[in-house]
Parts: sequence; structure tokens; C-alpha cells
Amino acid sequence: MEKSLKRIGIMSTGGDCSGLNSVINRLVYSGLSRGHKMFGILDGTDGLSMPKPEIIELNYKTIPPEYMRLSGSFLKNGNPNALNYRTDKTGQFQKNMKAAILKLKLDAIILIGGNGSLSLANTHASDYSSIQLVCIPKTIDMDIPETDITLGFSTAVNELVKYADQLLLTARSHHRWFIVQTMGRDSGFLCLHSGLAAGARAILIPESKWKLPKLMEHIKKEPLDYGLIFVAEGCTIRGRSGKVSDIIERDFTKAGISCRAVFPEHLQRVGDTVATDRIVSAEFAVCALDAIENNETMVMVTKKQGIIKTISLQNVVVSGIIVEDPNIKGFFMSNEYVSEKDPLLKVAKDLKIFI
Ligand code: F6P
Repeated sequence: MEKSLKRIGIMSTGGDCSGLNSVINRLVYSGLSRGHKMFGILDGTDGLSMPKPEIIELNYKTIPPEYMRLSGSFLKNGNPNALNYRTDKTGQFQKNMKAAILKLKLDAIILIGGNGSLSLANTHASDYSSIQLVCIPKTIDMDIPETDITLGFSTAVNELVKYADQLLLTARSHHRWFIVQTMGRDSGFLCLHSGLAAGARAILIPESKWKLPKLMEHIKKEPLDYGLIFVAEGCTIRGRSGKVSDIIERDFTKAGISCRAVFPEHLQRVGDTVATDRIVSAEFAVCALDAIENNETMVMVTKKQGIIKTISLQNVVVSGIIVEDPNIKGFFMSNEYVSEKDPLLKVAKDLKIFI
């Protein structure tokens, strides 16, 4: 039977990360070689909901292989201040988006997104009823359920390690501790992996029940008088307000421990895409295109225990812990947390890392 050739749109949504250009390149190369027509939708779902969405036909030269290493997204991820799916009360966003999908005459859309975008797509499945929707999980937070890896995570870990490697040199010169606050929203994956890789002597994640006095005791007993403390942005200390790293800095300074809180912020979302993310890009891209050719829809590509396959978005959304978006009241999404059985926790404890 002859394969039906399709018009496939690609969009990246939510916070950017490294690996987006890599996966877009792989999708375009694989899609074109299979005979499909590939299109880029600019500015993600925000762009798709504009009265005149910008869409470009993609060819082998638009995002060539030398762009694969670059962070950010060639297609752009959208402007959070534009008319937004989450905040639109009038339904205009959805109306525009539905109209655009029909007008563009697309057969399928590949949405590269994080858990917010995936939960939204699942909630508003009817908007995509005229096409196939296949999602690719990306986020530096790695908090998407039902996948062992998300695009962008490995590069973010690598960037934090590069940053921490430099800090250790100045830390040694000044007998000083650096308290490195990582991103990751309310999950601790990014902090745990990067802290372990950087050689941090304390890794503070929201999932563990660490206490500040115990942390101080631990640091005072460390064999070296300098080093790294990694703290995830989602951590809080009961009864204290402000950033946890600032609180630690204040208390440590009062106790005579030389330290500085530092914030790599968005530098952890950029940086040359590492090989692991590029391999994941290739695996996810091929699986997404296979799914489109198999007429699947409302699915997410996943890698679990080494197996790459698709699962229904509905499954992704029900298998995590449902949390309210900290920035948008009334908007809920499915989140994944570091489990107490995570083998890395045991490894960290064996290394006498405070956790
Ligand atoms: O979800 C990705 C992420 O980088 C989080 O780790 C972080 O909390 C958030 O996005 C930062 O968002 P913004 O780019 O809007 O500051």
C-alpha cells in the first residue's frame, strides 16, 4: 500500500532549552526524506493563535546540521505576554488556533513542549481534532511523567557543571562555600544530577526533608573549608521568606562560614547542545514521524528503560502528581518528582553528601 504523504507543522512551546534546534533539524531531515512537507510554526501556540500565524516551509537548508548545537529555538517559543492559552478568558485564543490549523491545511502538528503545554494540549484536545497531534517532551526540569529523559535536561546539567567547576577554583582561593541555586521549578532532578556531577557536598532538593541547622553542622565537619552547596529553586524553609540560597548565605555568614549565594539563572537553559541531547533528538524525531505515519494522535514520545515509543497524552497527564501552576491560578498540570527510591539518592548518601 502506498504511504500517504503529509503536511506536518512543527512548533516549540514553553520555556526554551538546548536541543530544540537539534530536534527540529532531525524532524525536518527525516520528514523530508520520507517525502512529507515540513512547516515551522513560529512562536509556538502563542504564534498559532495570532490572527495571522507565521508559518514557513522548511527545507534542508533552513536549519542545517551546524545549527544543531545552538540553544534557543530557531522557530521561537512564543511571547508570554501575547494572548495566552492559560490566561485567555474569552476563548479567542482557541478560536484563532482552530481557524489557523484549518487554514494551514496541516495533517499533523508536532508540539515540542513541557508539562504545562502537554497538559494544555490534553485539556483542549478538541482544538486538534482536525489533525494529528504528536508531542515531544522537552524541559530542563525533567518533571514530565512517563519518560526517563526530556530534551534539554542533559545540556542544562552540563552547563551547571561547567559553571560550578569555575566556582570551585575561586572557592578554594578564598576558603569559601558557594551556594548554587539551580532551576527546576518544584522538582529536584536538575539539582540532584548537576550537584552530584559537580562534586557538591550538599544537595538540597524540595523532595527531601533537610533542615538548615543540620546542613550547617555537616558543612562545619567537612574535610575541606570550601566547596559547593547545590540548592533547587523549589526548596523552602518553614517560617522564612525569600530565596533559600540567600537565607543559607545569611545564616552561614552569621555563623562565621565564608560563603556566597550565586544564581546561574537562564545560563543553565542555554549552551551548546551535548551529544546525549542530540541523540535523544534523533530518537524522538524518528519516533514522532513514525507515529504520524501510523496515524496516531494525542500521543507523546517517550524513552523509558531504553525503549522509545509513544504513549497517550491522557496517560502522561494522569500518571504524575497534579499541581497548580505557581504563576497561573486555576491552571493545573501533571508533575514528576524525585522518588525516594531514586538510585542517585543512595549514591549521594554513600558519598556522604548532605541531602
Ligand atoms: O521550566 C523551565 C524553567 O527554566 C524553570 O526551571 C524555571 O523555574 C522557569 O522555567 C523560568 O521561567 P522564565 O524563563 O519565565 O523565567
